[in-house]
Amino acid sequence: MTNNKKVLTWLDEMIALTKPDQVVWVDGSEEQLAQFKKDAVAEGSLIELNQEKLPGCYLHRTAVNDVARVEGRTFICSRKQEDAGPTNNWMDPKEMYAKLEKLYDGSMIGRTMYVVPFIMGPAKSPFAKVGIELTDSLYVVLNMNIMTRMGKIALDEIGEDGDFTKCLHARKDIDEENRYIVQFPEDNTIWSINSGYGGNVLLGKKCLALRIASYLGKNEGWMAEHMLILGLQNPQGEVKYISAAFPSACGKTNLAMLIPPKEFEGYKVWTVGDDIAWMKIGPDGRLWAVNPEAGFFGVAPGTSNKTNPNALATTRSNTIFTNVALRDDNTVWWEGMGEDAPEHAIEWKGEEWTPASGEKAAHPNSRFTAPANQCPCISPEWENPNGVPISAIVFGGRRAKTAPLVYQARDWNHGVFVGATMASETTAAASGAVGVVRRDPMAMIPFCGYHMGDYFAHWLEMGKKIPNPPKIFHVNWFRLDDEGHFMWPGFGDNLRVLNWIVDRCDGKVDAKETAIGYMPYEKDINTNGLDISADTLSELLSIDKEVWKQETGGIKEFFGKFGDRLPEELNKQLATLEENLNK
Ligand code: OXD
Ligand code: MN
Repeated sequence: MTNNKKVLTWLDEMIALTKPDQVVWVDGSEEQLAQFKKDAVAEGSLIELNQEKLPGCYLHRTAVNDVARVEGRTFICSRKQEDAGPTNNWMDPKEMYAKLEKLYDGSMIGRTMYVVPFIMGPAKSPFAKVGIELTDSLYVVLNMNIMTRMGKIALDEIGEDGDFTKCLHARKDIDEENRYIVQFPEDNTIWSINSGYGGNVLLGKKCLALRIASYLGKNEGWMAEHMLILGLQNPQGEVKYISAAFPSACGKTNLAMLIPPKEFEGYKVWTVGDDIAWMKIGPDGRLWAVNPEAGFFGVAPGTSNKTNPNALATTRSNTIFTNVALRDDNTVWWEGMGEDAPEHAIEWKGEEWTPASGEKAAHPNSRFTAPANQCPCISPEWENPNGVPISAIVFGGRRAKTAPLVYQARDWNHGVFVGATMASETTAAASGAVGVVRRDPMAMIPFCGYHMGDYFAHWLEMGKKIPNPPKIFHVNWFRLDDEGHFMWPGFGDNLRVLNWIVDRCDGKVDAKETAIGYMPYEKDINTNGLDISADTLSELLSIDKEVWKQETGGIKEFFGKFGDRLPEELNKQLATLEENLNK
């Protein structure tokens, strides 16, 4: 399928190492995909679902010990340890290759190696990057077909001597003790072994599109971010694009696919992406973004017609479900789907289940892999090779008291500080202490492929180079009152906040200058049709200086981690915040 010598030489080396019985090039054709699905059903890795109700849909069950990303076993193996930084696991690349070569040696004996060329980003786009994943898993091949532009199209993209990310995945024994997800940024290489779970093995997603791409972006002058991208259309038909970063469990996919409240007739949210944004400076001096992915790898539990009808609709055909429950009519079910629990089902581990079992039928991290183009609100611009122009960047976290509903950074550098100090508080639902603050700058802690101090510096550098940068905001949908109730309704009503954000970008509304940035006047948040008292709104739009003084202590401690790689500008921003709070 290719004459690219770099591809062929590398492939020979990897075949010599893993020793597969046969090698199959994946061309992306419908005929070949149909055969793969048959083969996967025959070997038992996929279960064909009810093809009348869920056409083209399949179910996969992972091993019980292999149900999520494993940060503890994820490594950034840069040549120097200090280049991986304090937030990544590191090992010397030579040592890591030697260790892994022992594990990969002969790992595909008796198995088939699939050669999966794929593009992240639209084909022929200035953003596009090609990877080739060698894998012994048909589940990976079929998921990569949904999540990326896969097959011959990718080999055409690199031509005779183009570069690509070298991705190697072997299922091996799914042994947790020998599970490794390793990025070698300087070698443009990813090696993953002993897992079959999506985030660890669909190497185009977190491994390439964030860890490797963030490193490439730093060197090449662009940004790879853990952000959704949405377009907000007003009744005049104008669309403004927003990218937004949130730590997990803050409703990113829901925000990307938001349905406006009925009072906002004529408004519409278009989804460009739900997880990752690649952003570059366009010829017009604005920041332009593409979604490098072609599908959604979304969390199933909690996805319902009420919380996210667009996501649910996206999964009704051509979708691979992982670790959800199987109903007797061969359809799928999960907790929070908005349908009554079945009287009987097969739960995610493959065991008999009834509501009396007292256990969850779907794993809490069960997933759907669904083609983005099936989403009812997919943006007509989602595959534009030049991307969409970003008007606003939004950071968010789950804070009970500290952060107001929304505020705007004073300028780009202040915005970088706001992103760098982003945090969430643990909820009662998670194990461990409640209310513990976890800092997750730009939601990139698990995904930054280099030293986070250098990552902040890269953000600050980009700010100097973007003639017309997006405005930067922070939102908090999760503020609690003294009784512990959410003060803001969230979901579709978040549009009311997005609308203020866009109005600020357009210079249509004034704002109050406060110690932490610009905050809305209450009259400028449209609460028509919303059951919210004036007091509640005013509290949502206020800050408690004493709470913020404690916050600065937490920020100082966190910044201390980055040593002399923390840009001085961020210390200056912190000093300004402290001064403002003491005024
Ligand atoms: C994801 C994650 O799966 O951020 O998108 O963990
Ligand atoms: Mn994510």
